Amino acid sequence: MASSINLPVYQPFSAPQKPSEPRVGVFICECGEQITDILDVDSLSESAVESDDVVFAGHAPYWCSADGRKLMQEKIREQSLNRVVVAGCSPRTHRGIFKETVQEEGMDPELCGMVNVREGCAWPHRLDQDGANIRARDQIAMEVAHLTALTPRIPSQAEIASSALVIGGGVAGMTAALELAYAGVPVTLVDRKDALGGTATKEDSELAGELSAAVEANPSVEVRLNSRVTGVEGSLGSYMVGVQNGTGEQPRGNTDGPFGTVILATGEPDEETTHLAEMMRLPQDAAGYLADLRVRLRPERYLERGFYVCGSAHHPCDANMAQFQAFSAASRALRHMGRGSVTLRGPLAQVDAERCNGCSDCSRLCPFHAITMVERPEGVSLSTIDPLLCTGCGNCVSVCPVEAATLSGWSDSQLDAQMRVALDYQDPEPGSMLPEAGGLGVAALNGDREPRILVFACEWSGYAAAELAGAQKRAYPANVRVIRLDCSGRLQAGLIFNAFEMGAAGVLVLGCVQKLCHYERGNERAAAAFDQVEELSGLLGLHPKRLKLAWTPPDDGAALADMISEFAAGVDEAIRSIV
Ligand code: FES
Repeated sequence: MASSINLPVYQPFSAPQKPSEPRVGVFICECGEQITDILDVDSLSESAVESDDVVFAGHAPYWCSADGRKLMQEKIREQSLNRVVVAGCSPRTHRGIFKETVQEEGMDPELCGMVNVREGCAWPHRLDQDGANIRARDQIAMEVAHLTALTPRIPSQAEIASSALVIGGGVAGMTAALELAYAGVPVTLVDRKDALGGTATKEDSELAGELSAAVEANPSVEVRLNSRVTGVEGSLGSYMVGVQNGTGEQPRGNTDGPFGTVILATGEPDEETTHLAEMMRLPQDAAGYLADLRVRLRPERYLERGFYVCGSAHHPCDANMAQFQAFSAASRALRHMGRGSVTLRGPLAQVDAERCNGCSDCSRLCPFHAITMVERPEGVSLSTIDPLLCTGCGNCVSVCPVEAATLSGWSDSQLDAQMRVALDYQDPEPGSMLPEAGGLGVAALNGDREPRILVFACEWSGYAAAELAGAQKRAYPANVRVIRLDCSGRLQAGLIFNAFEMGAAGVLVLGCVQKLCHYERGNERAAAAFDQVEELSGLLGLHPKRLKLAWTPPDDGAALADMISEFAAGVDEAIRSIV
């Protein structure tokens, strides 16, 4: 029965493709004996250099100190390193320091990775020193594999035009336009009505009158009355905007721009607000007010699009509040334009045009509106990702039915490479990949090592909680191997099945609590992938205790440690019942 099911698990695994000649350096931190109390850093260094790709491995008291960083840079030069793995404390706090260190030596900072062997291995497994050391060895090797399989990305760059469009000529719109004009930015102010002032009440009319006079007298503000915005094109830093002028049956249209920023000050929600929201792909709340995109992401990954909302377009407010918001929007817009240009490096999604079938699922799902369907010369519309808007959440990868979308940093080959190391997996002989009696991947568990549990952990929740559990020295079994994800939405059912096929005793997926995913709906994607796995796992003889999805608050280390321990006990029971 199982052979008739078309599952990714039965696809042959292809070995990860390596970029040319990786030369990896592994720098193990002693953290002032906090690590060496438990971990044998000499053995870890010796194990690390067993990999063909590792040309240097060594330990020092503090690689993050000034002396440590200098020594690291000397090693990078001496050994011509092109990848660096630092094994020490948290990537969440120290990644930036080391990326800067390698960048100063001319290396791509994306080719520097960190493994937390302190909170991840030494502290939670301090009562199981062997287990802690074996896990540290594997987690370091996993990061080496992760970086070795990474194809360096070409940085994306964009110029930000120093000109602004303000939509709405009420108190908020006029205030924002004036603030920008006073700062020397040319502004185009568009309003549907035949006079400025918007819906200012009698009490506000004096203020509205003063503002309109100031706007009309300012040569840097071009006022376009009886006009509406009909289209917004372009990308970050350079928007071209269609404007329809005049009233009557045959209004004239033209295109203005490029604009570096757009300020929306359209007043109380109406059809026009919805029209603008759809065009500019801005979220609206239930009452129709425009909401800012959530920006709970790492600043280096997230680039503001340059769209700012103020006044009653945001929520009902009086003239004072409208002005306050307008000052704030203008100041954010000035800061944005003041950058002049932006360069983005980071994990980004890409679509293989050869594979894309034009279904547009990714475009509809992308929480950051970075994907559009672009018509190609052959007449088909294919998915195209704007690298400047992509934050690398991986939702498109998880939804793509033909595996055309990939994510740099968390590509299939990078995850595959880590899983191989974590599970000590070797390609089987052709023909031996069919499910064996007793359940998926059980044959692979019959070796002489202890069963391993693979944990896919969202950095913002499960991974953070695991670090906290370690910091609090809460114990859990050392047979887990953690793969850090940027968001659980990156997972696909096939990936989970692959983990079992490679011999994982259990797979635990940790994502953000509902409604708290940093990428809006990534955890919903993870839940959908997980449903698919659960639905099919019974058919494949997979014991339900070998698989778990949990929504994890980042600040409860105790709960996380207990949950991993409980899951590991269940996995153990399941394995003993079928092996
Ligand atoms: Fe944690 Fe999406 S960011 S699940």
